[in-house]
Amino acid sequence: MKSEESVITQEDLLRPVQAASVLIPNNVFLAPLAGITDYPFRAIAKRFGPGLTVTEMISARALCMGNQKTFTMARPGPGEDLLSVQLFGSDPIVMKEAAKICQDLGAAVIDVNMGCPQKKVIRSGSGAALMKTPGLAASIIEAIVSAVDVPVTAKIRLGWDLECLNAPEFSRMLESAGASMVCVHARSRSQMFGGTADWKAIRAVKHEVGIPVIANGDIRCAEDARRCLAESGADGVMIGRAALGRPWVLAQAVGSLSGSLDVPPPVPGEISEIIDLHLDLIMSHYSPEAAAWTARKHVAWYTKGLKYSAAFRDQVFRTGSIKDLKRLKDEFFKNLTDPET
Ligand SMILES: Cc1cc2nc3c(=O)[nH]c(=O)nc-3n(C[C@H](O)[C@H](O)[C@H](O)COP(=O)(O)O)c2cc1C
Repeated sequence: MKSEESVITQEDLLRPVQAASVLIPNNVFLAPLAGITDYPFRAIAKRFGPGLTVTEMISARALCMGNQKTFTMARPGPGEDLLSVQLFGSDPIVMKEAAKICQDLGAAVIDVNMGCPQKKVIRSGSGAALMKTPGLAASIIEAIVSAVDVPVTAKIRLGWDLECLNAPEFSRMLESAGASMVCVHARSRSQMFGGTADWKAIRAVKHEVGIPVIANGDIRCAEDARRCLAESGADGVMIGRAALGRPWVLAQAVGSLSGSLDVPPPVPGEISEIIDLHLDLIMSHYSPEAAAWTARKHVAWYTKGLKYSAAFRDQVFRTGSIKDLKRLKDEFFKNLTDPET
């Protein structure tokens, strides 16, 4: 008899995802990453064809207090007609008000962070702490659903710790409360980012709910995306860390799930062009100081693994402006591609 995993055929793997009224064109998503998935990075990632991108987690309270920097984080940038805005918080009323603001700013989906393991987030009962208070988590979803027209989704973990892996029942409660999709990072809160994501454990969530289930955790390459879908039985995959400095992994995952497209990684000259585009976006989005601070880490990620890049990265972190960073980057890629060197 065939195993459940092998029943999934190649053609099944790349498909749209229907989250309530919103049809997400394909099932490869970019994960929310605090301090990273800002508008410039999402715009670069979008060129590689993910079905959905998600903002960094945004404080619902800060939005309600009118914090302008938080408004900028929550506002879709040019061309972002399908943006999921992720909120964190634990007060249903505050979350509901913040969700209304996000909808007014142009969010196509509101996502609720129920997976962040960081102390400063869980201390207030937000993030992964909500997995210990399912009733409150459901109230938050209900409150938001009652106030906005866009789909409301949640990003969760397998549970709080190995003794309480409640993702299946928890997801069922969220679905009953009105959630339109759930994304599962296949680790418990106590694992933080250690160990290995247990994609197979997502199967139990999929059995429990009718809404789309997206699998997340440790998807590092196109082949992982295929294996993760097969092992989890999920409707889609969400890729985070693997896209840092390698946003083309999204196109490679799309190609791989389609079963027909082998997308080669860009050559160094193309990587240099992607960095130029990214730096331009960063410059138009941030103040000069914030731009340099943001850009340095991305340039370092883009060059990781390239010849002579360790010494280059040291220099990157000593640059004080985007102009210097660009000059340094151009020199690095020129040396890399120059046949004389
Ligand atoms: C630096 C960093 C920032 C993150 N920020 C968020 C966040 O804002 N919201 C969220 O739901 N998850 C956040 N996560 C978790 C990721 O979205 C994802 O669940 C996790 O990294 C596992 O997926 P990956 O192995 O593909 O990276 C963050 C992870 C990292 C490493």
